Amino acid sequence: MLISRRTLCVGTSALTLASTLSIPKLARATAPFAQPPLPYDQGALSPVISATTVGLHYGKHHSAYFKNLNSLVLGTQYETLPLEEVVKATASSNGATSKIFNNAAQAWNHNLYWEQFTPGGDDRPSGRVSSELESTFGGWDGFVKEALTTSDNVFGTGWVWLTRGDEGQLKLVGYEDANNPMVFGKPAYLGIDLWEHAYYLDYTNRKADHIRATLEKIVNWNIVAKRMGV
Ligand SMILES: [Fe+2]
Repeated sequence: MLISRRTLCVGTSALTLASTLSIPKLARATAPFAQPPLPYDQGALSPVISATTVGLHYGKHHSAYFKNLNSLVLGTQYETLPLEEVVKATASSNGATSKIFNNAAQAWNHNLYWEQFTPGGDDRPSGRVSSELESTFGGWDGFVKEALTTSDNVFGTGWVWLTRGDEGQLKLVGYEDANNPMVFGKPAYLGIDLWEHAYYLDYTNRKADHIRATLEKIVNWNIVAKRMGV
């Protein structure tokens, strides 16, 4: 088949024009938020959290929050903001941006979640973290007991967070759904996921066993100390 000069010219011009015009569109079509890589192997937290649970939790649920978020923010004022700013900007919008908030907050919550664990387990916290747990909760056992009580007070899905109270002391809070301390202007030092996808395959309805094992065996307390700035 012969291609005429006119066809070639039209085609070339169209390609040039499309190329020129498509640059900003292609830029906008790039997903603005990327899920961080899992900082260890999928089975590294086993047996506290199995490879199957990590695979589904990180590979399906966490991934879906990013996928949904990237779809929801395209063409909005949020697509160029840092993830933290999207969470804060959409937190109290009377429902107008609740879908964006839910996915942005869950993306951010899980970023902290995966980062705070260590393969093979960790010792109890030491130094300033330990002394603050002592002064606030009366020690390790009191801290774990308070975490379990706080989780019981969350009806349905949500998170338990180690944060600070208004007086500056450490504090455990429970929030439903995707809410986190950052929404309330507070730091997030440690987040325990209470959604069933975090534990049900491994522990069925024994949520307390999952929380206790997580706190006692796989939290990287150096990460918590770093978040506390101590
Ligand atoms: Fe989760």
